[in-house]
Amino acid sequence: MNNLAERFEEDGGARAKQEFLQDVFEGLSASPKTLPCKYFYDEQGSNLFEQICELDEYYITRTELALLSDIGNEIAERVGEGVTIIEPGSGAGQKVQILLDALLHPRKFIPLEISLDALEASTQELEKKFPRLEVIPHQGDFTDKKDLKKLPLVEEDTEQRLVFFPGSTIGNFSPHEATEVLSNLRLLAGENGLVLVGVDMLKNRDRLLAAYDDSLGVTAEFNKNLLVRINRELSADFDIEEGFDHRAVFNEEASRIEMHLVANKDQQVAIRDEVFEFKQDESIHTENSHKYSQQMFVDMALEAGLKNVRNWTDAQADFALFLLRPA
Ligand code: AVI
Repeated sequence: MNNLAERFEEDGGARAKQEFLQDVFEGLSASPKTLPCKYFYDEQGSNLFEQICELDEYYITRTELALLSDIGNEIAERVGEGVTIIEPGSGAGQKVQILLDALLHPRKFIPLEISLDALEASTQELEKKFPRLEVIPHQGDFTDKKDLKKLPLVEEDTEQRLVFFPGSTIGNFSPHEATEVLSNLRLLAGENGLVLVGVDMLKNRDRLLAAYDDSLGVTAEFNKNLLVRINRELSADFDIEEGFDHRAVFNEEASRIEMHLVANKDQQVAIRDEVFEFKQDESIHTENSHKYSQQMFVDMALEAGLKNVRNWTDAQADFALFLLRPA
């Protein structure tokens, strides 16, 4: 395969930086202050996230991988032969390999991913491991309807589609946004397709807090890396070592873990020619990770026009995979 960069128009680096600056200014001007979690994933942030996935306290990734292996055959039976898999936000493409191993002669795989590097590496690996599979990579943002519309989907009656959305990424959206994401997945699946979504289940608060505030401090570094990125890419002067602490909070009413960066002294931070004031204990809310009961998720999916076909959990009911179809 050619270098993917040659196959796609220029990645719009200047436009992306302008958007980043605007989102940071907007978030830090709001009350309470916020920053969007999508900016966690620069190169260092993606590496730290991979380390999080290996932590004892972070059960999500290994539980989902084991569950996928356990139920692969059941999914294959329901999906049938020659399917086209579409994965919005495919990343390194590790989870889809378990599905591809289980499915009966999958025909095409269409990953949609922002990071060109991740897209290129995963495409090469999948083409090598699954030589009969046609991999059709697309660079783009799955939250942007314009990017979804560019995907090379053919007439529904000539292909059976499975849209794969693992990792509990759905949890990082508010219920309102998550409903919108699910209805976009429904559009991708078409009237006869299926959608497979990975969801982290509501559980004991201590286990949730440990998963987002691990003993090795990897999650703290992941959270603070957002400030490192702002310093580097937007010429800011956050005092990362001394100025801010990582905090994970369980918000029971909203059924979510929140991550915050909390100022541990009064301070000023300059970003380009703007100055932002922080009071001691003031927080920047950086991420929400919503946790669902089965009923909560099934109800939300239905609102997005998706009906539960079947769902599976691990023995402890820590994590669930929902197979959905248009209602
Ligand atoms: C990517 N996402 C599902 C992770 C989560 O669990 O919400 C991101 C993460 N944040 C802290 N640890 C992991």
